Amino acid sequence: MTLKDQINKTKLPAHIAIIMDGNGRWAKQKGMVRVFGHENGTKAVRQAVEASAEIGIKNLTLYAFSTENWNRPKLEVQTLMKLLVKSLKKEIKTLQDNKIKLQAIGHLEDLPKNAIAELRYVIDQTKNNENMTLTLALSYGSRDEIVKAFKDISTKVKNNIISVDTIDESIINKHLYTQNLPDVDLLIRTSGEHRISNFLLWQIAYAELYFTDILWPDFAKEDLYEAILNYQNRERRFGKTSEQLTS
Ligand code: IPE
Ligand code: IPE
Ligand code: MG
Repeated sequence: MTLKDQINKTKLPAHIAIIMDGNGRWAKQKGMVRVFGHENGTKAVRQAVEASAEIGIKNLTLYAFSTENWNRPKLEVQTLMKLLVKSLKKEIKTLQDNKIKLQAIGHLEDLPKNAIAELRYVIDQTKNNENMTLTLALSYGSRDEIVKAFKDISTKVKNNIISVDTIDESIINKHLYTQNLPDVDLLIRTSGEHRISNFLLWQIAYAELYFTDILWPDFAKEDLYEAILNYQNRERRFGKTSEQLTS
């Protein structure tokens, strides 16, 4: 049986998030410049998106560029932005064929104008697709997102739109970029790094974490299926005891 066939379709993670890491090291291992790794990373993006759609994952969120990544060398940042525009143009067909809706989260105003325009176009073109929501985290930082939520909620309290007593987890959820998404069930990070790097801090409160040494450009459909199988073999206790879950 293939890995894909072993996946239990009734126990799929409702939301998978991926920290796509290791492009630079992948290129370096081949004696190439870092941006060569980013170019090849876009192929792995397509693999992950298609693999998710094929098995019926409803929400996939990809960490493509962090607020901290602006501190990289200017040429690398420029190349990443160019690759974003190129990929959006190229992949719109994959999105339409698989009925995938694109959305983006992050401090999008910081992106170059042509990237914002292309993003808006693809988001608009795919807005009625219902098989899967693909969320790109761009100029995204979880702390930045939480600061924004604090500000927005405080303003509403100040203007008597909501009262302090009514603030609860669901109100906070509604003020995050990810307001329309369920909590992350499975968080994957490639490249052997074991950290979160300011990604979805609130949303991963009870996510299962999966780390693999594979560098992002090498991450293939089978690797995603393996991560999902690993997830399905875990016992998610949410604070309860194992006995409580089985009785
Ligand atoms: C991930 O790969 C892509 C981005 C963060 C944009 P890296 O570029 O971080 O690759 P490494 O970690 O340096 O190998
Ligand atoms: C995290 O990777 C950001 C993205 C994958 C977009 P980084 O490579 O930027 O993270 P650090 O710097 O190793 O923590
Ligand atoms: Mg990295």
